[in-house]
Amino acid sequence: MAAAIETKSLTKTYKLRNGKVNVVDKLDLYVEEGEIFGFLGPNGAGKTTTIKMLLGIIYPTSGEAKVLGKEAGDINTHRIISYLPEKPYYYEYMTGMEILKFYGSLFGINDPAKFQSLLERVNLAGDAGKPISAYSKGMQQRIGLAQSLLNDPRLLFLDEPTGGLDPIAHIEIRDLILQFREEGKTVFISSHALSDVERICDRVAIINKGVIARQGKLDELLRGGRIEVIADQVPADFPAKLKDLKVTSSYNNARLILDIDEEEDVNGVLDSLRSAKAHIVSVIPRRKKLEDLFLETVKNVSEKRTTTMSGAAQ
Ligand SMILES: Nc1ncnc2c1ncn2[C@@H]1O[C@H](COP(=O)(O)OP(=O)(O)O)[C@@H](O)[C@H]1O
Ligand SMILES: [Mg+2]
Repeated sequence: MAAAIETKSLTKTYKLRNGKVNVVDKLDLYVEEGEIFGFLGPNGAGKTTTIKMLLGIIYPTSGEAKVLGKEAGDINTHRIISYLPEKPYYYEYMTGMEILKFYGSLFGINDPAKFQSLLERVNLAGDAGKPISAYSKGMQQRIGLAQSLLNDPRLLFLDEPTGGLDPIAHIEIRDLILQFREEGKTVFISSHALSDVERICDRVAIINKGVIARQGKLDELLRGGRIEVIADQVPADFPAKLKDLKVTSSYNNARLILDIDEEEDVNGVLDSLRSAKAHIVSVIPRRKKLEDLFLETVKNVSEKRTTTMSGAAQ
């Protein structure tokens, strides 16, 4: 598969009152065509700044960025990509249909049947004549998605597309994004809504303070979780025997629930339980949650930054 997005050492430095800060710092990103890529990070991590560099709206301080094989910002590439900003701004007096006509005209598209089918696709056909001021946040986000499909893009940049939406609107947007993949489009989606990303993304990068901390397939990043063991009829003195292992345990009514950190400890624990005449109820490998991975990663980067970021203090 070809690369939809590839960056090398992409860096953006801003001069702030207390010195220079790399808000995006030597970013190496790789996104394959046809995948949904999740760009995850807390507020202020550098997600929007990165997207703007990929679109050519702002220029990098150093490093390279290629989008669909061309330099970021290439005018011909703009015809085949699209962008839904974090906080889209629409003329509030315009109706949904007028918005599509207006943005369509920027691409030289004047195709009422297309506008109508896009409105149907995002489930706004019945509201096409209402002004945007009467649209809920979820409806505004859906008209935004319809607008981002006007040029039938190969690659979509969606900046926090589910930000501030209620759970139902979340699901609607998520389902639409999943349809894009069916059509072979590449979707680059920035988010801090981890549960969304977990369900729809093929690969993710986690960014914090401008630095990519992790990048890869979700399955692989989430591997290596704990193993849960549940046993009944466990003698009361048993939990104390586990004190040398990396284990969290809870014991109640002769039922023991264990969370074992290291896979290699599991067999030994099971053997000891059997010799203690306990009854093993279940042994379940628990995948790491994306939430855990995110917090763990963000914490590591913060620790690293406090030791290496001396520039800003000078
Ligand atoms: N034009 C700018 N001038 C100075 N600092 C900026 C500018 N734009 C963004 N920043 C800073 O860069 C950091 C990253 O911002 P941003 O990319 O918007 O983060 P995110 O989208 O991940 O929330 C923030 O600390 C923000 O304040
Ligand atoms: Mg942002």
